[in-house]
Amino acid sequence: MNAAIRYYTRSGNTEKLAMAIADATDIPANSVDEPLSEPVDVLFLGCSYYAFDVDEAVKKFITDNCANIKEIVLFGTSAMMRSMKKPIKKVTDAVGISVGEEEFHCRGTFGALHKGRPNQSDCKNVVEFTKKVLAKRNGL
Ligand SMILES: Cc1cc2nc3c(=O)[nH]c(=O)nc-3n(C[C@H](O)[C@H](O)[C@H](O)COP(=O)(O)O)c2cc1C
Repeated sequence: MNAAIRYYTRSGNTEKLAMAIADATDIPANSVDEPLSEPVDVLFLGCSYYAFDVDEAVKKFITDNCANIKEIVLFGTSAMMRSMKKPIKKVTDAVGISVGEEEFHCRGTFGALHKGRPNQSDCKNVVEFTKKVLAKRNGL
């Protein structure tokens, strides 16, 4: 079982989570500008909501790299909304990629809202979440 991390960020909130996961798992975290160079069993994909949708760059990454992705597990930040499955599944369903049942979400700073988020505790929680998913996919 192999895994990769990709993320999209505008102000660094989701990148913070991606880097925490990378530090704890030794799986390199790169932005969605970096295509997958080999097939992955699980892609941890970090993204956020902007005007009730995920960015086009995230959708394009999924479509462009679909041949190399077996499953996507989502993590992300936002100011109000939670699950990103709805906009993501519109894309993954079209190209036949499964989206893991599990998803990590926390608040991200947006102007005066949620200052300091994601914080240390959010980073700890996303690491725990990722380790649990990895253990499960490894049959542990
Ligand atoms: C232009 C813009 C639009 C946003 N729209 C939403 C939204 O519709 N729903 C929501 O919950 N958060 C919204 N947010 C808040 C972001 O999802 C939140 O700040 C997130 O943590 C940003 O992550 P990033 O720094 O990784 O880009 C918006 C932020 C921006 C800048």
